[in-house]
Amino acid sequence: GGSGRRADYEHILLDWPKIDPTYCYRCPWGKTYPSCDLDCATALEKEILKNGADSIAAFIAEPMMGSSGGVVPPVKEYWPKIREICRRYDVLLIADEVMTGFGRTGRRFGVDHWEVVPDILVGGKGLTGGYMPMGMIAVKESLVEEVERAKAEFMFYTYSSHPVACAVADEVLAIMERERLVERSAEVGARLGSSLKEELSGHPMVGDIRGTGMFWGIELVQDKATRRPYSPEKKVTNRVLGAAVRKGLFFYPATGMAGKAGGDAMMITPPFIIGDAEIEFIIRTARAALDEIQPNL
Ligand SMILES: Cc1ncc(COP(=O)(O)O)c(C=O)c1O
Repeated sequence: GGSGRRADYEHILLDWPKIDPTYCYRCPWGKTYPSCDLDCATALEKEILKNGADSIAAFIAEPMMGSSGGVVPPVKEYWPKIREICRRYDVLLIADEVMTGFGRTGRRFGVDHWEVVPDILVGGKGLTGGYMPMGMIAVKESLVEEVERAKAEFMFYTYSSHPVACAVADEVLAIMERERLVERSAEVGARLGSSLKEELSGHPMVGDIRGTGMFWGIELVQDKATRRPYSPEKKVTNRVLGAAVRKGLFFYPATGMAGKAGGDAMMITPPFIIGDAEIEFIIRTARAALDEIQPNL
């Protein structure tokens, strides 16, 4: 649904059914949690009924929105409710854990925060710690059996199950266990998050700081009270990123979370091995980058 990313391909893309995200800072239903009746989750049921359950094969979502939202953890009832709706209408639930998987959010997988088991889980990135290109798909055994029963044949990729990539993934996962890096992501990530909130919430450009584990987002706004975003033409995220990189800090830029009105966010997603000195550096440098850009906006 990212209009910017779709733009060049709109003419060949299907306009498949989708629902607005669980995103409390800019609730698409204009409501406030917890008195909101979870419209974000019941939207799925409405969409399924509108299209007819038989026409919907699966629902795919990120457990916590990454670059489309600038790190947006859902409310805690969201995924259990989505799981229940999918089960009720026989719609497969696919968790896109490419960003959130392998310890990034302080649990092995994002869905583990709510003890939800998707039917299909896709992953990448952290699986090999970035040392080898590799993506993965995990599928419930019952689905595999069904496909086998149907005698369906699968196409494979040139590099499917590439031995070197698999060996790297094996080793990365072993190191993660040996060095308790998922636990470390949760522990040090909590310190990172509370420091970000303490030190940067008061900055005039900072509207919202949210996240968990080593997965944090800082949404930048023109007006803190009304949450009005900067206009997209100002390219605020890119300018802050440029200033930060010159000072030695890279962050993943996220834009467009306010729809046509724009939206800017910095995603702070450091390696799991950082300590207090690096947390201090991240905050000091992020603040310096914001201070450098702010007078020219
Ligand atoms: C949530 C999410 N899903 C999927 C992808 C694509 O992953 P890959 O490049 O491994 O295909 C990305 C890439 O950033 C992503 O962030």
